[in-house]
Amino acid sequence: MENVFQSRNRAKPIVYHLRDVVRDRASEGVTFRLRVPSLQITQGEKIALIGESGCGKSTLLDMLAFIAQPSDIAAFRFRPDIDIDAIDIAHMWKKRQMNRLGDLRKRHIGYVMQTGGLLPYLTVRDNMSLSRGVLGLGDDGTVETLARELGIARHLDKLPETLSVGERQRVAIGRALAHQPSIVIADEPTASVDPFAAEKIMSLFIELAEQRNITVVVASHAWRHIKRLGLRRLAHHTHRSKDGRTTETVVNG
Ligand SMILES: Nc1ncnc2c1ncn2[C@@H]1O[C@H](COP(=O)(O)OP(=O)(O)O)[C@@H](O)[C@H]1O
Ligand SMILES: [Mg+2]
Repeated sequence: MENVFQSRNRAKPIVYHLRDVVRDRASEGVTFRLRVPSLQITQGEKIALIGESGCGKSTLLDMLAFIAQPSDIAAFRFRPDIDIDAIDIAHMWKKRQMNRLGDLRKRHIGYVMQTGGLLPYLTVRDNMSLSRGVLGLGDDGTVETLARELGIARHLDKLPETLSVGERQRVAIGRALAHQPSIVIADEPTASVDPFAAEKIMSLFIELAEQRNITVVVASHAWRHIKRLGLRRLAHHTHRSKDGRTTETVVNG
């Protein structure tokens, strides 16, 4: 528990503390292993995980969002707020406390999916309000403000299908921010947008997160435009066995 006491006295608490966290996946005789010997993310940090398709980006992000269960954990602590002690995520998985993990996710984390994940039958406004609705938060103007900042205010009462792909990704970012989470996880949020729009959307996203002191973890296959935004890049190495049947990615940071 040394780290908990240390972090209490520091200006910036450690939001994620992982040690020897592993997730194995296997299908059709091919096995993939993601291994995280050590990872620490402090409050307000902006982190990028860059790598080719299949290297394990979504696997790591889904573990950080408590969606994917690690196969093995030495330590996994989460401290979303300076006012609370670090939460033992390893213990929650061990005890199969899915509801508590789900509650932590809903309260503290915003998630942006690669293709938005918007509900087609809800307006932009209602899509953006979803994360708030789940928490029982009323309309306090946050959604309208975010929509203005994201340049999509004129679309609030439209359905997602009437928007461009880039606009839809802005809505998805708005939804991930609307319940004022302390962490936003974004899985290749601009992969389906042209490079020019992607750069604009990514810099807007990082700017909004910066203003709100939100911790950001973003996966991408393109480093160039993310580097300019000052994100810290996580180191990772992928090894494939000669017969191609096992792949292991090791992430440290
Ligand atoms: N549903 C699945 N079942 C079994 N293995 C999977 C599944 N999805 C992904 N994998 C394996 O996990 C590896 C990492 O996947 P993923 O984390 O989605 O990578 P990325 O997001 O970097 O493209 C893949 O190369 C694949 O071997
Ligand atoms: Mg992925």
